[in-house]
Amino acid sequence: MEAEFSNLEPETAYCAKAEILNSDGSYYLHENWKFETLSFEPKPMRFVIMGDSRSANGGGDHNVQGLNQKAIEKFFNLAYRSGARFVVFPGDLIDGYTSDLIKLKQSFRTFHRASSHHRHEMPLFAGMGNHESFIHRFPAPKNGPKPWKGSNFTLPQTSPYVEEVFAEELVSPLNGPEPEADGLPPYKENVYSFVMNGVGFIMLNSNYWYCSDPETLGGNLEGYIMDKQLSWLNQAVLEMHQNKNIKHILYFIHEPIFPNSVHQADAMWFNGGLPEKNGGFDRSYVITRRNQVLQAISQSPKSRAVFHGHEHNYSKTLIPANEEMGVTHPLWQIVSGGLGSPYYAQIKDVPWADQVKVFNWSENFIVLDSDETSIRLEAFDGYGNSIDTQDLMEI
Ligand SMILES: [Fe+2]
Repeated sequence: MEAEFSNLEPETAYCAKAEILNSDGSYYLHENWKFETLSFEPKPMRFVIMGDSRSANGGGDHNVQGLNQKAIEKFFNLAYRSGARFVVFPGDLIDGYTSDLIKLKQSFRTFHRASSHHRHEMPLFAGMGNHESFIHRFPAPKNGPKPWKGSNFTLPQTSPYVEEVFAEELVSPLNGPEPEADGLPPYKENVYSFVMNGVGFIMLNSNYWYCSDPETLGGNLEGYIMDKQLSWLNQAVLEMHQNKNIKHILYFIHEPIFPNSVHQADAMWFNGGLPEKNGGFDRSYVITRRNQVLQAISQSPKSRAVFHGHEHNYSKTLIPANEEMGVTHPLWQIVSGGLGSPYYAQIKDVPWADQVKVFNWSENFIVLDSDETSIRLEAFDGYGNSIDTQDLMEI
């Protein structure tokens, strides 16, 4: 259920209450909720970033209807106790990869149940990952083309698209681009931007219209930002750059630009796009598009960091200025996929290995403190121990 509040003022405290109509005509009065709006102008603010709460090994409450309920409860409590005003979560909330719509919706409901204790005061801004998926899966025909990975083809379900389910189940800004073409999935509520206390936030969808074998079947490769989303990104960065009230710009994309762990064969890398490592397909177009995403971000020196999930660990990678890639302003890549999904170790066989400054495979979440002149990060493990600190304006 969604309720709309209109004409809210910045920096104002509000109270809300819900009355629920019982079948006998009586009303049940829910507890009062309170929340406080933030400002468009630069002011001190604390918020939290976390990702990847899909189910883990171990059974019990590590896997409740496709998610790690135990970790979600724990980390939302830790986020609230840190004093965060809101949470940004770039994807893989749930297991997904299902053809059962009821099961898919139940996973989202379970996520809400595990995280809802504080969300009326500490809102959630979520994005889509590869696990937010609703699919058809079918084996390769005997004498037909073969899937590039595994033995099954995976196509998106179209009624509804998972992007539509995501928009129904979560509440996010509506300022995303139009679909890539008529009849393709919507971007509304899975690609969006917003401004809080002088910080610009841009959420992308690196898993739009996912298909396992787009060169054979159509659809879109995971990790690939299609044309309309890219041009929306370019425009969003320019607008934030020109907005004098915005002092820092942060980006959220589920699949890493520079994967440092088990996702060398996907994300925005696909083993460099080499045909011999991609079932014979030349996927250098993935690298070209990755560089165009970096160039879009690089339009503003206010771009401080790109945050990802997908890899279940914490890593901090320097993205230096690089003429070939079109990066004119160095910035940080932070991966925080630590909300209870199975742990992944580091893989160092990548061209950017020397730029990885921290790698930690604990459960983790990130607390950020911003104001007009600074933006500082501290990452914590599941016991509240600090595992990294970084002033994002220092390179
Ligand atoms: Fe993922």
